[in-house]
Amino acid sequence: MAWLATCSSLVLVGVLALAVQVFYFSPIDPIIIERPPPLLSASPFPINNHLQSVIKLGEGIVKDPEDICVDKHGTLYTASRDGWILRLHRNGSWEHWKNLHSHTLLGITITTQGDVIVCDSDKGLLKVTDDGVTVLVSQVNGSKLRLVDEVVEASDGSLYFSDASTKYDLQNFLLDLLEARPNGRLLKYNPSLNETCVFLDNLTFANGVALSKDEDYLLVCETWRHRCLRHWLKGEKKGKTETFIDNLPGGPDNIHLAPDGSFWVALVQATSEEMGFVHSSKLLKHLVASFPRSLGNVVRGAHKKAMVANVGTDGKIIRIFDDSEGKVMTFVTSALEFEDHLYLGSLNSNFIGKLPLRSET
Ligand SMILES: *[C@@H]1O[C@H](CO)[C@@H](O)[C@H](O)[C@H]1NC(C)=O
Ligand SMILES: *[C@@H]1O[C@H](CO)[C@@H](O)[C@H](O)[C@H]1NC(C)=O
Ligand SMILES: *[C@@H]1O[C@H](CO)[C@@H](O)[C@H](O)[C@H]1NC(C)=O
Ligand SMILES: *[C@@H]1O[C@H](CO)[C@@H](O)[C@H](O)[C@H]1NC(C)=O
Repeated sequence: MAWLATCSSLVLVGVLALAVQVFYFSPIDPIIIERPPPLLSASPFPINNHLQSVIKLGEGIVKDPEDICVDKHGTLYTASRDGWILRLHRNGSWEHWKNLHSHTLLGITITTQGDVIVCDSDKGLLKVTDDGVTVLVSQVNGSKLRLVDEVVEASDGSLYFSDASTKYDLQNFLLDLLEARPNGRLLKYNPSLNETCVFLDNLTFANGVALSKDEDYLLVCETWRHRCLRHWLKGEKKGKTETFIDNLPGGPDNIHLAPDGSFWVALVQATSEEMGFVHSSKLLKHLVASFPRSLGNVVRGAHKKAMVANVGTDGKIIRIFDDSEGKVMTFVTSALEFEDHLYLGSLNSNFIGKLPLRSET
């Protein structure tokens, strides 16, 4: 019977090793979510598949264009996964403008001065001009920026930008989802003083940032919480933060002000039925974190559909466009309205989608 004893001790050692691996070396410190956020299919709007009728811009030239901006001449800019800042001129020609030699570029905006500001999730907030690239901010008060995500300029020249997680970088952002703690923050850069401060802290994956038309408030998206917060910059509520919209049918990614004062927010499916189950148990979270490849499987939904919502200043959804089966676009991360068209960026496409808005309304 010695073999049985050997066998059981082997099994015991195996179980112990696994337990140590799973708990002691777990990369995450998770919290439980009792009521996981809804799936895209929980949208209160009927499926319309409007995003299946986009015109594809720059197909094969751009790669995973997470965000888009347009300058005062109508030139469109995007940051491609291969490190290029590309621009699309009004005459339809694409230009490989600047190569930033980075695979971690996300949000992009253009200042009133004409400088392009790019979020390099690893390196920080960058300023790109014809003359070259400057790192504006790579740390705040001694803490390194780990996942710089989106930026918007205020009329006084300040840059509000998000650091989605102080704990996990872009390669490990799904661990942040699993942990589900408010590891993110919104920062404010003052270019005349060359100073950065933490403007809002404890945000759950701080992602898109937008200013209202009159700049009386700003919005910041908390992707894993399926909500956007409103922080008042002016008026009697100045300094107060409140929920602007919650229970969104997807995780809000980038958000952009529309010409009429409403907002376009891209919604990504960052959950699944399995993920809802995982969220209910710390043990499951530690287990999944030990086998990170399984994490990709429980949130693969982002790669299967796309959705964008137009939200009014009252925080109510006005309309939704989707591609419910991901036939043409999936993982749409950005929707920018310009001259009666919606320009759509995505982390899973090799083109920018262009959708005429008039015929859809
Ligand atoms: C398009 O416009 C850009 C910028 O003005 C210019 O550099 C480029 O040569 C033009 N391309 C064509 C094909 O006209
Ligand atoms: C910088 O960090 C220190 C220590 O964590 C803290 O006491 C201080 O208030 C911080 N300063 C700012 C401007 O955030
Ligand atoms: C801005 O401040 C950072 C440190 O916070 C410094 O590295 C950088 O050189 C400064 N830039 C300018 C233009 O002074
Ligand atoms: C917010 O985060 C800071 C550290 O960034 C922490 O000290 C503080 O307790 C947090 N506040 C809440 C309400 O969780």
